Amino acid sequence: MSVKRIGVLTSGGDAPGMNPCVRAVVRTALYHGLECYGIRRGWNGLISGDIVRLDEKSVSHIISRGGTILYTARSQEFMTEEGQRKAVSTCKFLGLDSIIAIGGDGTFRGAQALSKYGINVIGIPGTIDNDISCTNYCIGFDTAANTAIECIDKLRDTMQSHERCSVVEVMGRNAGYLAMYVGLAVGATAVLVPEEPIDFERDVIEKIRQARFNGFTHYMIVVAEGAGSAADIAAKIKDAIDLDPRVTVLGHIQRGGSPTGRDRVNATKMGYLAVELLLQGKTNRIVCTHDGNYTDVDISEGLAMKKGIQDMEVNVLAAMTGL
Ligand code: F6P
Repeated sequence: MSVKRIGVLTSGGDAPGMNPCVRAVVRTALYHGLECYGIRRGWNGLISGDIVRLDEKSVSHIISRGGTILYTARSQEFMTEEGQRKAVSTCKFLGLDSIIAIGGDGTFRGAQALSKYGINVIGIPGTIDNDISCTNYCIGFDTAANTAIECIDKLRDTMQSHERCSVVEVMGRNAGYLAMYVGLAVGATAVLVPEEPIDFERDVIEKIRQARFNGFTHYMIVVAEGAGSAADIAAKIKDAIDLDPRVTVLGHIQRGGSPTGRDRVNATKMGYLAVELLLQGKTNRIVCTHDGNYTDVDISEGLAMKKGIQDMEVNVLAAMTGL
C-alpha cells in the first residue's frame, strides 16, 4: 500500500517528549509531501473519528511542552475486534493508509492488531518506565529521571537537617529502571526494584545500619512502585529500627514537565525515522535505539523480547551502598 496520508497518535501513559515526537512526524511527513492527521485520545480517537489535520503551524512551539497535544488514553474498546473494525472504517473513510503510534507495549499490540487489516503501522517507544525490551531508550525517561532527582535532592536537604530516614516511591508499576537510575543518581542508601528479589533485612535494614555505623545520620530509600509501597516500607523500617521514616510518593509529577534536550532530540529522531520507514515500504515495526544508533524491529519480535536491570547497575549499587 502506498503512503499518502499518515495518522499519528499517543496512547497509554503520557511521557515528556511525546510532543516533540508528534512534531517530528508531522514535519517529516510534510517534508516528503505527505498529509498528516492527529488522532486524539489514543486508539479511542480512531474509533470515534476524533481526528484533526496537522500542518507546520499546528506543531510549532510544542517541542518544549510536556504532555501530549493529542491527549492520550488506554482504550478498552480497541482491544475488541469490533473496536478494531470501527477504527479500520475510520481509516478507510478518511483515507489514512498509515498510523504512527507513540506509547508502550499496549500501544504496540494495538498497532499490530490494526496492521492485520492492511493498515501500515509503526510504533515509537514512549514511556517514562523505559520498559520496552527492544530498545535501550524510551521517550520520556530522561525527563522523568531528572524530575525525580531534583525532588529527591530537595528532600535530602531536610532529611539531613532533621537526621531522618526518607522513603521515596518512584513510578514503575512493573519495572525498576527509573528507580535504579534515580537511586544511583541521588546516592540512595538502598534501592528496591521489582526485578530483583528483596530480602528486607539485608537490602534495607542492614544498609541503614551500615550507613549509621559509618557515621551517617540520614538515609534515603528509593523504591519502585512495583516493588512495594513507600508507606509499607516505612512502617517496616519503623518496626525494625529506631527510626520514624518520612514517606514521599512522587507520583504523576514525574510524567510532567518540559522535555530535556535528550528527550527532545531522541523523540525528533524517532519521529523522523518512523516516517522514513513507512516511505521505505516497511510496516509493523517498532523504532528502537541502541548505543546511539537507530533501527527498527518487527512488532511481534519486539514484544517477545525481554530485558532486565543491567548487572552493571546492580553491581555499582552494591558497591555504592555496601560501605
Ligand atoms: O506510564 C507508565 C506508568 O508511569 C507506570 O509506571 C505507572 O504505574 C502508571 O503509568 C500509572 O499510570 P496512570 O495513573 O495514568 O494509570
